[in-house]
Amino acid sequence: MSTAVLSGVELYSDYVNPEWVKLLDLLDMNASYTRCDGVELHTTDGKCLLDFLSGYCVHNTGHNHPEIIAALKDELDQHGPAMLQSHVSGLAGELASRLCALAGGRLQKVFFCSSGSEGVEAAIKFARAHTRRDGILYNDGAFHGLTCGALSLMGSPFWREGFGPLLPGTEAIPFNDLETLEAKLKSRKFAAFILEPIQSEAGIRIPAPHYLEQAADLCRKYGTLFVLDEVQTGMYRTGKFLAAHHYNVQPDMVILAKALSGGLIPIGAVLVSDEIYKSTYTSLKRAIVHTSTFSENGLAMRAGLATLDVLERENLGSRALRLGEQVRSDLRSALSPYEMVKDVRGLGMLSGIEFQRPSQFGLRLSFEAFARIHPAMFGQMIVMRLFQDEDLLTQICGNNFLVLKVAPPLIVEPDQLDQFVHSVARVTGLVHSSRAFWSDALGLARRAVNV
Ligand SMILES: Cc1ncc(COP(=O)(O)O)c(C=O)c1O
Repeated sequence: MSTAVLSGVELYSDYVNPEWVKLLDLLDMNASYTRCDGVELHTTDGKCLLDFLSGYCVHNTGHNHPEIIAALKDELDQHGPAMLQSHVSGLAGELASRLCALAGGRLQKVFFCSSGSEGVEAAIKFARAHTRRDGILYNDGAFHGLTCGALSLMGSPFWREGFGPLLPGTEAIPFNDLETLEAKLKSRKFAAFILEPIQSEAGIRIPAPHYLEQAADLCRKYGTLFVLDEVQTGMYRTGKFLAAHHYNVQPDMVILAKALSGGLIPIGAVLVSDEIYKSTYTSLKRAIVHTSTFSENGLAMRAGLATLDVLERENLGSRALRLGEQVRSDLRSALSPYEMVKDVRGLGMLSGIEFQRPSQFGLRLSFEAFARIHPAMFGQMIVMRLFQDEDLLTQICGNNFLVLKVAPPLIVEPDQLDQFVHSVARVTGLVHSSRAFWSDALGLARRAVNV
């Protein structure tokens, strides 16, 4: 019998998800982190990486913000009614009132849950209860989460394959297409149009001028609820509390999650109007007709309140607006010599660098060969080089592999943004000039096939 003690990673591989371990190993990105502070990620082998992914927009306040940790410690020390399930949570009341005040418009009630997907599920149920219709419209390229209801609002076969029939009555329409939207709405069978105001995983797609405003007006005209999924774009990520605030729209519902609890405790929230709330919670008998065990969890609520304090006191929204503009302008200048860079776009501290197929013959051959092996191969090579050579953690968009996401914590310092710009320019230069980039890519492709 073996007496060897297995490490956490080995146990993870044995008991949680071996494929994930293999993928990180393959990309040489299976680092072991000892301490994460602000934008910095420290590893056991003495490296300090900068986080330009923020856990997909979770760490707006930076990793392990001391004030949020202090609030959580205090909450634990109080030995309060954390999971009583039969009391009224004052902390939930406080957090809900602050969220409604910040969101404004017709949003006057909050349902709390523990993730973005769970928020999307709740929004689907609330919309159906309010309108007595079944259908839900969503946008091509959307990412709304991987539970069955949320997944029904994502068209990509990659995410859907193998999971059987999803919710009936859901239909996709192109982003920025008002004509198709109106044609669908006219059927009056849709309870809600659920969309991201800026599509994150689709490649940081910015709405056309007045698209959101006119889409909201059309929805109102045909009795369909206009629901914004601000799971990535909310909590000052784009510079304002909600991305909706840039576009002069008043949604009927807003879904928040991720950054709402400082990246430390699972949380989600659905902000709704009084009328929508009343359509679900119609009577005493139905007071808890939609809920979940960890909804209004004391630690999550305390973390949410502390996170709002930090975001407001440190003015992280206006900082995101200012530094976001600057980093996009710097990236555009630094990347202008490179033909494979198609666009740099974004809002606040949510940006994307879009790459494209090169026209130069030699480059094009390599690019296409790798795209045939796997469409994400090229983008993943950039992510890998940034990680290994430049000590930067980044990722490509989940539904658009040619867009590199730029989403550091909102507390990122100007010199860290400068470092990022120089690093991306260096790696982009390698792509355009170095055989090593492409031969490494070939090595990766071979290893991927053999794993
Ligand atoms: C826009 C958007 N909505 C919903 C979700 C689902 O959130 P969660 O992973 O917390 O369930 C995500 C997750 O990345 C997201 O990006």
